[in-house]
Amino acid sequence: MNTNLSSSIPSQVETDCLVVVVLDRNEKDRSERDRGEKDKPAPSIESNDAAVREAARDVIASGEVTGKAFETTLLHRPAGLRAKRLLLLGGGKVKNFSAAELRKLAGAAVRTLKSKSIRNFAFALPENGVAAKDGVRAVAEGAFVGNFDPGYYKSDRKDNDQKIDEVTIVVHGDTKPLESALQAGRVVAESQNFTRDLVNEPSNRMTPTILAERAKKMADEVGLKCEVYGADKIKELKMGAFWGVAQGSDEPPALIVLRYEPEGAAKDVHLGLVGKGVTFDTGGISIKPADGMEKMKYDMAGAATMIGAMRAIALLKPKVKVTAIILATENMPSGKAQKPGDVQIAMSGKSIEIINTDAEGRLILADGLCYARQIGCTHLVDAATLTGAVVVALGYVNAGIFASDDEMYERFASANQQAGEKMWRLPLDDEYKENLKSNIADMVNAGSRYGGAIFAAMFLKEFAEDTPWVHLDIAGTAWMEENKPWIAKGPSGIALRSLVEFVKGWGA
Ligand code: BES
Ligand code: MN
Ligand code: ZN
Repeated sequence: MNTNLSSSIPSQVETDCLVVVVLDRNEKDRSERDRGEKDKPAPSIESNDAAVREAARDVIASGEVTGKAFETTLLHRPAGLRAKRLLLLGGGKVKNFSAAELRKLAGAAVRTLKSKSIRNFAFALPENGVAAKDGVRAVAEGAFVGNFDPGYYKSDRKDNDQKIDEVTIVVHGDTKPLESALQAGRVVAESQNFTRDLVNEPSNRMTPTILAERAKKMADEVGLKCEVYGADKIKELKMGAFWGVAQGSDEPPALIVLRYEPEGAAKDVHLGLVGKGVTFDTGGISIKPADGMEKMKYDMAGAATMIGAMRAIALLKPKVKVTAIILATENMPSGKAQKPGDVQIAMSGKSIEIINTDAEGRLILADGLCYARQIGCTHLVDAATLTGAVVVALGYVNAGIFASDDEMYERFASANQQAGEKMWRLPLDDEYKENLKSNIADMVNAGSRYGGAIFAAMFLKEFAEDTPWVHLDIAGTAWMEENKPWIAKGPSGIALRSLVEFVKGWGA
C-alpha cells in the first residue's frame, strides 16, 4: 500500500473517496437527551473546508448522522468536491477523541472501503483534538493494520480486489515536518502485520525451524544479526526446562537470537526481549481437550511479536542495544515427552517439579530469561500467550502486564499509552510465592486454578531475579475472536507497538 501526504484542501483532492470524521457533540447521557431532545447539538464535521461542510449539510440536517463511533455514511458524487465519494465516518464522543481513536478510524475506513472494492482514498486529518504528527502516525498505522487479511489459504482469495492500494492523508499546512511520522507509522504497522503473518500460519507451516528461517530472512533484509541454535546448543547451555518441553516433539526446537547493536548506544543499557514460541501447544501428556485445540497454533504469538518488534527497531534505529531471544518448540505428547511428576533442572540451576505439562510456556521462558541475563541484558521484557487465567481475569480486551520494578513499569505504561494498546497491571505480591512450593524440588510449574496468571508470572520472576523485568501475558489479546470495524478476526499483533515505543524511549 502506498501512503502519501497532501496539503491540498480536502475538497480539491482527487480520489475515489474522501473520508471525513464526524464527532458526536452530544455530551449528555441518553436519559437527559430524551428529556430535552430540542437542544441536542448536531454532530460536527471535523474539517474546516467549507465545501466539505456544504456537501454534508443535508445529510447532517436530516438527523441520519449521529457521529457514533464507526458509523458510516457514504455519499456519491458529492457536490463541490473533486472526490468521487464522501465517506462520513463516525468518531464517537468529542471528549473521548484521541490518537488511539483516530488509529481505529483509519482502520475502519480501510475495511469499509476495501469491502466495496475501492482501491484508494484520502483521509482528512481532523484539525482539532490530536496533534498533527500523532495524527499522521496514527492514521498510517491504523490503515496498514486494517488492510491485513487473514484468509491466506482460500483458493478463491481475491487478494488484489479487496485491498487498498493507496492512502493519502490530507493535512493542514506543510507536509514536510510530518514525513517522518508517516514513515514511522508505516514501519511499525508493517512490522505488526509481519508478526500477524507469522501468527496466522498453522503449525504444519510454522514449525520452529520455519520460524527461525523467517526470522533469519527478515534479519538479513533489515541488517540484524541472527543466530539460530538447535538441540545440541540448548543442551550445552543446560536449558533443562526448555529441553523438557522440546524433548517430546519430533520437530527440532530452535533458540533464535536477534541482535541489534547500533553505534553510539549507551554502554550501560541492554534490553532483552524474550518471546514464547510454542508453534503448537497440545498440552503434552497433560493433553488439552479437542474442543478449541486448533487455536493453539497461535501459542507462538509472543515470539512473533518480538521478531516483528526487532524488524521495526532495525528500521527506526533507536540508539540502544537490544537482543531478542526466541524459544521455539512444539509441546507434544509422545514416548519421549516429559511427564507429570518429572523434575527438570533449569539453566539457572533451579529445579522444577512438572505438575502439569501444559504449563510449558513458563518453562521455556524460564531458560530464556536466564539466558538473557547471562548475555548481559540489563532490562527484560517477555511476551507470551501464557495462561487461560489471564483471559478469565481480563477477557479479550486488556493484555496483562506484570512488572518487578515500578520505574520500568512506568516507562512501559507510558509507551503503551502512546501506542494505544490496552493493557492492565496485575500484582506480584510476595504472598503469592507460597504457591510455588514443591515437596521434591525448588518449585512446581503449576498450582491452583485461582490467580493462575499471577502464579505463572511469579514463576517467571524466579528466573528474572533482580533484573528489572516486565511480563506481558497476551493469551486473551493475541487473537481477535471477532471481526472489529478496524481489524479483522485473527492475529492482532498486540504488544508490538508498545514494545517498539518502549525501546525508542531508551534510545532517544
Ligand atoms: N498456551 C496456553 C495458554 C493459552 C490459553 C493461550 C488460551 C491462549 C489461549 C498455556 O500453555 C497453557 O496451556 N496454560 C495452562 C496452564 C495451566 C495448565 C496451569 C492454562 O492456562 O490452562
Ligand atoms: Mn500449555
Ligand atoms: Zn502454551
